[in-house]
Amino acid sequence: MKNILVVGGAGYIGSYMCKYLAKKGYNPIVLDNLIYGHRQAVGWGPFIEGSMADSKLLKSIFTEYHVEAVMHFAAFCYVGESVSEPGKYYRNNVANTLNLLEVMIENNVQYFIFSSSCATYGEPIEIPITERHPQNPINPYGRSKLMVEQILKDFSNAYGLKYVSLRYFNAAGADPDGEVGEDHRPETHLIPLVLQTALGQRERIDIFGDDYPTKDGTCIRDYVHIADLAQSHLLALERLMDGMQEGEYNLGNGDGFSVKEVIEVARNVTGRTITSRVTKRRPGDPAVLIGSSKKAVKELGWKPQFADLSTIIETAWKWHKSHPEGW
Ligand code: UFG
Repeated sequence: MKNILVVGGAGYIGSYMCKYLAKKGYNPIVLDNLIYGHRQAVGWGPFIEGSMADSKLLKSIFTEYHVEAVMHFAAFCYVGESVSEPGKYYRNNVANTLNLLEVMIENNVQYFIFSSSCATYGEPIEIPITERHPQNPINPYGRSKLMVEQILKDFSNAYGLKYVSLRYFNAAGADPDGEVGEDHRPETHLIPLVLQTALGQRERIDIFGDDYPTKDGTCIRDYVHIADLAQSHLLALERLMDGMQEGEYNLGNGDGFSVKEVIEVARNVTGRTITSRVTKRRPGDPAVLIGSSKKAVKELGWKPQFADLSTIIETAWKWHKSHPEGW
C-alpha cells in the first residue's frame, strides 16, 4: 500500500481525503497540529500530532514510512483574520509550507498536491475564471496561497519537485455517508451557518449585502463538494506519477449561486424555517466567483459526482443533524 502523508488530515477537507485514500487502497498518514483540526476526525491511517514546521519530526516520518507523496491541507483559511493578523498567515501558510517542501526534497519525496484557492485571482475581470486569469489576490490569505504556488514552480525547476496546485472555489458539503463533515471554530462559512440556523442554534443568518451587481443583489459563489475535491487530488497524484506535467487546476462546478439562493435551497432541503436578514457588506467579498474547470476535466479526467447544490446541502445537512455540536 502506498503511503501518502496528509498534512492537515484532521481538518474539514483533509479528513475526508484520508477516508477517500483508504477506500482507494492507499495508506494515509495524518500529520496535524490540532490547532483547528479535530482528533476525532482522524479515522484512517496512523496519526501524528505535530507541525509541518518541525523538521525533525518530518524527517522521522519520512524515515519511518516510505512516503510516496504529500497532500497539503494545513493552511489557515480565515480571510478576515488574514487581514488583521497577516504574520500568522505568512508564517503558517508560507514559511511552514516552505519548511515542509525543503524536508521533502532532502528526503527524496517527489510528489506534492497543494490545496490552493480561487482567492489567488482576487477581483475577477472575467467570468468564468480560467487558470489563465491574472492572479492579483486582494488579501494576505490569497497572497499566501499564491506565494506557495510560485515556490512550487521554482522547486520544480530547481529540484524536480512534481506538484499540482488545485485552486478550489467554495468547498462545501459533507461525506455522503455522514461520517465526516465541517466543523470550523469559529464558523464563518455560509452553508454551515445556514444549517446551524435551520437547527435552531442561531437565530438568523445574516446576508452580507444585497446591493451587489448580481441578479438578486447578493454575492454569487461556485460551491464544490469535498468528495469531488478528494477525487481530483487522487487523480492529480496518479497522473503526476504517470508522468503528467506539473500545473494548476481550477476546481468548481462552473455554476454560481447567490447567497439568497443558497438559503432558499437550504429551506427546501431541511424543511425548516431559516430566518435571514440583510446586513452590510463584508469587506473583501468579490460580487461573483465562478470557475471554469474544463482543464481539470480534460487533463485530470475529473468527473464531479456531487455538483448539484441541493445534493451538496443535503450531505451537509445529514452531517449537521447527526453532529449538532460538531466533532
Ligand atoms: N456570507 C453571508 N453571510 C454569512 C457568511 C457568508 O452572506 O454569514 C456570504 C459571503 O459574503 C459570501 C458567501 O456568503 O458572499 C460565501 O461566503 P463564505 O465565507 O462561505 O466563503 P467565501 O466566498 O468567503 O470563500 C472564500 C474563498 C475561498 C476561500 C475561503 C476561505 O472564495 O477560496 O474564502 O475560507 F478558501
